[in-house]
Amino acid sequence: VRSRNSPGFMLVTVTEVGLLLSLRTDVVTVTPWLAPVVWEGTFNELLLDSIYKKKNITVAATVFAVGKYIMFLKDFLETADKHFFAGFRVDFYVFTDRLNEVPKVNMAAGRTLTVRSVPSSNRWQEISARRMELIQKLIEETLQNHVDYIFCLDVDSKFHGRWGTESLGGLVAVIHPGLDNRSRFPYERRPASRAYVAPGEGDFYYCGGAFGGLVQEVHQLAKTCRNNFEDDAKEGIEAAWQEESHLNRYMWINKPSKVLSPEYLWQDFKQRNPEVLLIRFSGVIKNYANIRPN
Ligand SMILES: *[C@@H]1O[C@H](CO)[C@@H](O)[C@H](O)[C@H]1NC(C)=O
Ligand SMILES: *[C@@H]1O[C@H](CO)[C@@H](O)[C@H](O)[C@H]1NC(C)=O
Repeated sequence: VRSRNSPGFMLVTVTEVGLLLSLRTDVVTVTPWLAPVVWEGTFNELLLDSIYKKKNITVAATVFAVGKYIMFLKDFLETADKHFFAGFRVDFYVFTDRLNEVPKVNMAAGRTLTVRSVPSSNRWQEISARRMELIQKLIEETLQNHVDYIFCLDVDSKFHGRWGTESLGGLVAVIHPGLDNRSRFPYERRPASRAYVAPGEGDFYYCGGAFGGLVQEVHQLAKTCRNNFEDDAKEGIEAAWQEESHLNRYMWINKPSKVLSPEYLWQDFKQRNPEVLLIRFSGVIKNYANIRPN
């Protein structure tokens, strides 16, 4: 539509946009720093897929299946193969201390599974802490030159619906499904910690169980969180929620360029909120006493 007042400019009316997108008015779809918040109904998946097909992208995914968490790996991989970037090249990297218990899963064409050995640990907090270091090294040693995007995902979860190109961005975080009262966000509140977020600060509370983006951006994130974690440890400090606290601090300083709604990491024990039209990925119900070493 050519406006009479500004010849030469193409003004797209709301009606025209409406042909492409059905906008959501019941949820926040853009952050104050102008990053999209991805909800079902805010994107055109055919259009997005065709854009990224032409770019011939490769996506990596990391998952940590240490100790008894190996029990979740089969469902994770089987559902990921079906729903996570279906039709795209995906390289899955599994980190485990139980190499013999890695299930045989047949991946679709163009999708690979690589298993890497990690030492066992007696504390789940330590397993969680070392993830950032392992992600940093994986990117430096293996991914840097041939993978475009990476997502780091919790193994004790399953895919139920599409997770695809709509989630791609420079730095990508997922809004935690259970927390909507800002004054109760469980950030690290001790100023002595490098994960500190002051009262009144913080945008969203993001999940530690799913984050990603461009390989270079996630490398920076992993390296920073790892260094901050280790520097805290030298002073005898462990942040309230370990790497999740450091991730939240990082995302406060380095705003994500795309934010994924809680559709991208729900919890099976939670009843679906009305604004969540589709659960794409969700944490399974588990008995912590059975799976955590301490
Ligand atoms: C797409 O990328 C893959 C892996 O990097 C490569 O083997 C293939 O040749 C590329 N295809 C095209 C059409 O560039
Ligand atoms: C949020 O939490 C604070 C502190 O616990 C409480 O005072 C406030 O009423 C809560 N707000 C809502 C909307 O629930």
